[in-house]
Amino acid sequence: MKSILIATTASSLLAILDLATGPLHAADVPGKQAKMSDLERAHRGTVDIDTELLNRAVQAPSQQAFFAAARQAMGAAPHASLAEVPAIRQAAQDHGITHLGGPMLGCISSNAASVWLRTDRPAKVSVVVQVAGEARRCGPVASTVETDLTAVVRVDGLMPGTHYAYQVLVDDTPIAMPANARITTAPASDMAGATRIAFGADFHKSGLWRPELMEWIRSRGNLAMLLLGDSAADDRENRVGLHRSDYLLRDLSPYWQQMAASVPIYAVWDDHDYFNNDLGGIPRGFTAADRAAVRSVWQQSWNNPGCGFNDEHEGIFFRTRIGPCDVIMLDTRFFRSSPGQANSFLGERQMKWLEEQLLACSGPFIILTSGTMWSDSISNGKDSWGMWDPPAREHIFSFIEHHHIAGVLLLSGDRHGARVMKLPRPSGFLFHEFEIGSLGAHEGPAAIGNEPALQPFGVVKTLAFGEFTFDTSVADPTVTFRAIGADGKALHTSTLTHRELTPPGN
Ligand SMILES: [Fe+2]
Repeated sequence: MKSILIATTASSLLAILDLATGPLHAADVPGKQAKMSDLERAHRGTVDIDTELLNRAVQAPSQQAFFAAARQAMGAAPHASLAEVPAIRQAAQDHGITHLGGPMLGCISSNAASVWLRTDRPAKVSVVVQVAGEARRCGPVASTVETDLTAVVRVDGLMPGTHYAYQVLVDDTPIAMPANARITTAPASDMAGATRIAFGADFHKSGLWRPELMEWIRSRGNLAMLLLGDSAADDRENRVGLHRSDYLLRDLSPYWQQMAASVPIYAVWDDHDYFNNDLGGIPRGFTAADRAAVRSVWQQSWNNPGCGFNDEHEGIFFRTRIGPCDVIMLDTRFFRSSPGQANSFLGERQMKWLEEQLLACSGPFIILTSGTMWSDSISNGKDSWGMWDPPAREHIFSFIEHHHIAGVLLLSGDRHGARVMKLPRPSGFLFHEFEIGSLGAHEGPAAIGNEPALQPFGVVKTLAFGEFTFDTSVADPTVTFRAIGADGKALHTSTLTHRELTPPGN
């Protein structure tokens, strides 16, 4: 009962409520945490740590009091939903909190977008958008106990490539909106020009409390932000109440609020926001029901255009279209079995689905994401394709080449740092991987792996996000990759043409 011995302060008393999450470590003792890295702190996620993250931004006393009460309540009910804990709503009412999360944009198209919001009680959510100088109302959509107080309002009838101011209402009352909140629609598919899409992985909670990258992602005019894992929830295993608490913390970050209210977010998970380090499938000691519960929290906490085989409640992958890109974001956790088994990484059905999607893409570019790395030269393929399922990786690559599927860009995360890799094929064709696990600038393996001739760029312990600028106004469309650092300047720039991304034989 060492926890009682150290429980001499109010914050430590709150920490006791986290006993269900595991034994206290020396690092939980006040005064010892200064020695922990931000990554270690994200993994531990005690009340003290989460509270310290909250206060990395200037917070009104009412927000601090709300989070203290809400975090305590969820720590004491680690398997509950937010809607099931009356103390959450009470804390919101006591401290004047009008909603628990959002607005978060998603599912952008040339004429529509989706607006996600989490209310503090079952309510009706509407969005008013200014179209041609007139206010047009979309919704209402009910947030319910079943959706854990989330509602997604589809805003449609918009014009391509246009900015729109918008306002969210809860039960007909306008909520406070982040500064600069606006919807920007994608260009029409036949509209030639430049389009930007940002991407990256490994915020690991603490990165959500640093303003630099998210402000640049917004202000540089990115049409969307793709998150490839280890974003907001960290090592919560089957304690879905604490997954939800982590999303509550995300949604209190003013930097996150400002980005998510104007840049549509697309997210898949990796190990840490799935269960825990390097875990996949149904991890040992957990059940199919645990996995289903984690998936349900995920589905409710993001604003994605799809969620795996949704009728069967399996996986979180999806395919969508953003401007000139088909975007396929794979689920590289849910279906894992054992290395050496057929399709042990994606599962047989997701592999079949992937083949169908690749054939259905209409391009000119295809973004294909994996939570962990496609290439092997960093950490020898640890926890990734090279260690788990080289035959399936070979199948995907040869499938793309055999069908002359052009414009494929491989994205990944997991290995902290930012890197560009070339993946040569026997035909002489090169795949290109952009591994951006640097949203939190956390410590990681060496910047350059064991094949430096195939790696034109690598940095570690450096804040950076990835950014593609597509130019479809030229005869041979181009994609320019930039790794953008904390000062908004490019750490690395390289351009590929559509022809270079076209497998031979076309
Ligand atoms: Fe990570």
